[in-house]
Amino acid sequence: MWWLKEVWVIDPSQSLSAPRDVLVKGGQVLEMASSMTEEEVLTIAQGEPVETINAKGKFVFPGLIDVHTHLREPGQEEKEDILSGSRAAVRGGFTTILAMANTKPVIDNRALVEFVLLQGVRAGYAHVLPIGTVTKGMQGSELVEMVDMKEGGAAAFSDDGKNIQNAEMMRLALEYAKLTGLPIISHCEDKDLAGDGLMRRGVTSARMGLKGIPASAESVIVARDLLLAEETGGKLHLAHISTTESVNLIREAKARGVNVTAEVNPHHLIFCDEDITLTDTALKVNPPLGSRGDRESLIEGLRDGTLDMIATDHAPHTQSEKTRPFAEAPFGIASLETALSAVWQYLVLPGQLSLDRVIEAWSYSPAQRFGLSGGTLKPGSSADMVLFDPDFSEVIDSATLVSKARNTPFLGKSLQGFPIMVWVEGQLVQRNRTVI
Ligand code: NCD
Ligand code: ZN
Repeated sequence: MWWLKEVWVIDPSQSLSAPRDVLVKGGQVLEMASSMTEEEVLTIAQGEPVETINAKGKFVFPGLIDVHTHLREPGQEEKEDILSGSRAAVRGGFTTILAMANTKPVIDNRALVEFVLLQGVRAGYAHVLPIGTVTKGMQGSELVEMVDMKEGGAAAFSDDGKNIQNAEMMRLALEYAKLTGLPIISHCEDKDLAGDGLMRRGVTSARMGLKGIPASAESVIVARDLLLAEETGGKLHLAHISTTESVNLIREAKARGVNVTAEVNPHHLIFCDEDITLTDTALKVNPPLGSRGDRESLIEGLRDGTLDMIATDHAPHTQSEKTRPFAEAPFGIASLETALSAVWQYLVLPGQLSLDRVIEAWSYSPAQRFGLSGGTLKPGSSADMVLFDPDFSEVIDSATLVSKARNTPFLGKSLQGFPIMVWVEGQLVQRNRTVI
């Protein structure tokens, strides 16, 4: 049994942000009270050993749920696999991760869904929930068997990495997915507008002489998908929103009652196109980093609820790929182990976002939208839980990262504010930054 004394609890599911004593027993959050005596705790323990943590000055919150991670298994295990990715997850404070379907082969049938699920269970760290593709082979022309895949354990459907260019296919997907109750996650990117651009089109791309991707490459598909969701009543989730125009379109659609949620990635909240240098491909990501104005719109959108969730879009790549010249390196940032700390340091500490909103957007809202367990510390709920030390600082070091990937802009830099203990179903899986 665990007794967390005088810890600051943040639990948006109960609108709670206050100091409490927290008891965890039998895999569940047992009780929370303003204070507890040793006698009371021992009575509840009924002979079970009690580990007491003096947690004053630290936060406890429900484990983060990341609806957008690329784990690369099957097929590209040199970049990441389900074991390394789910270990990285619990090191970063995530107790549930949704694994994107753009593996090799892509996850487009029930057998593959069950494989990913099983590998997650075998790894024994975070809950790993498979996302299935929307179309067979991610070819954009034939729908997968969504009902069958849901029965196998799929948590959502997405051709992420590739946009569904054919609007009729997207309309059908939204219609058909209603049978499953699961969201269609859209990677909004018009292929022709994006072309072979390398970063967001603007003054900075012109100055750097790099081919640009216009903001409209994202926003025209956001507009299309919102209209299709409105027409079909289908459940739409928009991945990695990065432009002001997209935020405005989503805000208007929500006001009309469209069944849509949207996520934003930490890197789009923290960085902008001006941070990109030709000699470092770490910030080469898709969708590309936007302007300063986009960054402000995204923060505002997250604050006012237009953007419902934060999601990492953890996109691991090998060093040999990421050390190619800028034009040839793949898009993606590996972020499971640094995302929460980066958000703490760059957004919460300077007062741009409250920690309560961050936890709501990264735990409670994903659980609600995707119908997952977790996202709450209500007594009786499964103890998927994070103890966060706001003062702990660490230099992000290649030697200590447990992900296989090193493509992070924070390598060699110091971050402050880290998860120092993480429980999944009441089992401790990370302590003092070491995965158990
Ligand atoms: C992702 C990947 O590497 O799979 N890359 C990225 O930059 N985000 C694909 C994607 O989510 O677009
Ligand atoms: Zn994507």
